[in-house]
Amino acid sequence: MLVSATEMLQKAKAGQYAVGQFNINNLEWTKAVLLTAQENNSPVILGVSEGAGKYMGGYETVVGMVNGLLKGLNITVPVALHLDHGSYDHCYKCIEAGFSSVMFDGSHYPIAENVEKTKELVAASHAKGISIEAEVGSIGGEEDGVIGAGECADPQECKEIADLGIDFLAAGIGNIHGKYPENWKGLSFETLDAIQKLTGDMPLVLHGGTGIPADMIKKAIALGVAKINVNTECQLSFAAATRKYIEEGKDLQGKGFDPRKLLGPGFEAIKATVKEKMELFGSVNKA
Ligand code: G3H
Ligand code: ZN
Repeated sequence: MLVSATEMLQKAKAGQYAVGQFNINNLEWTKAVLLTAQENNSPVILGVSEGAGKYMGGYETVVGMVNGLLKGLNITVPVALHLDHGSYDHCYKCIEAGFSSVMFDGSHYPIAENVEKTKELVAASHAKGISIEAEVGSIGGEEDGVIGAGECADPQECKEIADLGIDFLAAGIGNIHGKYPENWKGLSFETLDAIQKLTGDMPLVLHGGTGIPADMIKKAIALGVAKINVNTECQLSFAAATRKYIEEGKDLQGKGFDPRKLLGPGFEAIKATVKEKMELFGSVNKA
């Protein structure tokens, strides 16, 4: 059964580790993330962007697929199904469709409007026992059409949003979606520290988890980050493994063109990436 992400993230914050949010795109992706979580006895959050939701045939399809896999694969670790970077309208769609968690990304609105919309969505999601993440500041780069300038969040605005009763807070601290450029300045721990001091027990969320060096991840967790989002890194490892299989001509040998074989190396590559992240984030054996 899907669970809200509130309890798993409160436990993570108190225990000084982070739960990974891994974005899903299809059946193979979802199965790979769920099996890795089960094998490592780790809680996990499945992230679904609006674009990926559309690609998979709509939110009801996603809910049906995930619930079917939880049962069919006998997954017993805590799993949350979370809308990633949701707009106001899509938060409502996911609340209705059976998601167990939503993110309202109101970071591009003036703060008063972000506050107003977040407040309304807190009430709507909590009425159904669903957890809600909100965002202040912006994550740089682009993810599925969501483009951010990358400015660091104002800690006072973070407090204002946190006080609305959200369950976890994403704050821009110099993090970027996609690959980090060579000249990236790194995370602003000063900003993170100030946000954590003003928001107390609130679990903080680090977006753009692809390619952040291990020492920065550890420091971010020590400063209150309890959820780390990873998307691009799974896509890169899936693509590399699939390319290798095709370039080696394995799709042309025997039944190598069978999708269950063709997608196998990419599936295993996602599993390896997810396992590596769960170990780095410290969520192994925390289910
Ligand atoms: O919302 C999802 C993420 O922040 C993932 O970022 O693609 O850089 O790993 P990433
Ligand atoms: Zn993100």
